Amino acid sequence: MSETLKREAAARAIELVEPGMRLGLGTGSTARHFVALLGDRVRQGLHVVGVPTSEETRAQAEAEGIRLTTLDETPRLDLTVDGADELDDRLRLIKGGGGALLREKIVAAASARMVVIADASKRVAGLGRFPLPVEVVPFGLAATQAAVEKIAAHFGSQGAVTLRRAGAVPFVTDGGHYILDIAFGVIHEPETLATALNAVPGVMEHGLFIGMCSTAFLATEGGVVVIEN
Ligand code: A5P
Repeated sequence: MSETLKREAAARAIELVEPGMRLGLGTGSTARHFVALLGDRVRQGLHVVGVPTSEETRAQAEAEGIRLTTLDETPRLDLTVDGADELDDRLRLIKGGGGALLREKIVAAASARMVVIADASKRVAGLGRFPLPVEVVPFGLAATQAAVEKIAAHFGSQGAVTLRRAGAVPFVTDGGHYILDIAFGVIHEPETLATALNAVPGVMEHGLFIGMCSTAFLATEGGVVVIEN
């Protein structure tokens, strides 16, 4: 998706921001446009506070002059705006392509409203074309991976469970964890799969966001399409 379209989706979400709001700030190339536009509004005098979902977003928000807080200081947020790797018509999401899914999910869960900004290519009839990220603790990796592989096979995975790498070493999340990417192809029962993954010791979180997102702004060449849940 072009940067122009990403910015258009972000601009629609900026219209939802009101003075005094407590905001969750997403991660990724689309959320980055939202944070940049929010910075513009802040410099024009808007007062809001934000909780970043990654160290990358924290750095950007600080550079933009956006006042930051934590969920310890501010446990309830009004609105979180974030990107997604996939979404279906019921606004079930796959997130975590950028590796920030744990903080993204904690922040979204603490928010009265979660809005996704993306391009229309992220919209799918069924989730699973994008590999599902699963965040795991490094301790006991092989045992946890074996348990995740068993679940993946049970739920019809067509491909491998792969440890995400950053060059020669494992990719490490902001929380100090690793990520296993499951190549599903199609996920037939996302809710049941989510429950099964949550039950594995060593799994911190997975990238299925179900029942969290209420609105999506999907940018197309013909304008921004809105999906409400
Ligand atoms: C970060 O971990 C992800 O959940 C991102 O929100 C997601 O990958 C979307 O990123 P883009 O906006 O860069 O496609």
